Amino acid sequence: MSCLFGRAALRGLLCPPRALVPNLLVRPSSGGPSWNQERTLVAVKPDGVHRRLVGDVIQRFERRGFKLVGMKMLQVPKSVLAEHYHDLQKKPFYPALISYMSSGPVVAMVWEGPNVVCTSRAMIGHTDSAEAAPGTIRGDFSVHISRNVIHASDSVDGAQREIQLWFQSNELVDWADEGHRSSLYPA
Ligand code: PPS
Repeated sequence: MSCLFGRAALRGLLCPPRALVPNLLVRPSSGGPSWNQERTLVAVKPDGVHRRLVGDVIQRFERRGFKLVGMKMLQVPKSVLAEHYHDLQKKPFYPALISYMSSGPVVAMVWEGPNVVCTSRAMIGHTDSAEAAPGTIRGDFSVHISRNVIHASDSVDGAQREIQLWFQSNELVDWADEGHRSSLYPA
């Protein structure tokens, strides 16, 4: 990550301001507004599944301290992909993107934690593999933008939309980890 910017300024560039949305998907924690418990959608794409990278991805998110609250392997229906990527319909790569995303199974996950939307984008790295820094998932495992291993929601609003699109509410598990939390961040 560049050292030219302070962390707050850099976060402002990378991540839009977070909304305080008190619902099932983004829950305020007892630590106050700066410790908002967000949720985000992370999906290991077909190339990542084929290359046996699912375990590495899970390990990175667990080690960072995030909490897994939903996970499933699925062959994503084209209708879901069309909705998920509806902003990109006019892009020249859209047909190839849909074809690639439906070419094999995807492992979709919902991760929870403070600032998980912004942090997961930093962890996965730049969309274009050529620009992705070493140490990021794409920077370590991907050489081309069209096979960039992983998706993560790019905003809190986008995460809510994507989680609702990909998961039924009864597929998400609210499990208690209060004891673990106190060793990750202040109450
Ligand atoms: S754009 O063009 O700025 O809107 O695209 P971007 O936000 O960088 O990426 C949006 C998703 O499109 C995927 N993408 C591509 N797929 C295949 N080929 C090419 N050339 C390509 N360019 C972008 C990119 O991986 C993003 O998908 P997700 O699932 O969000 O990672």
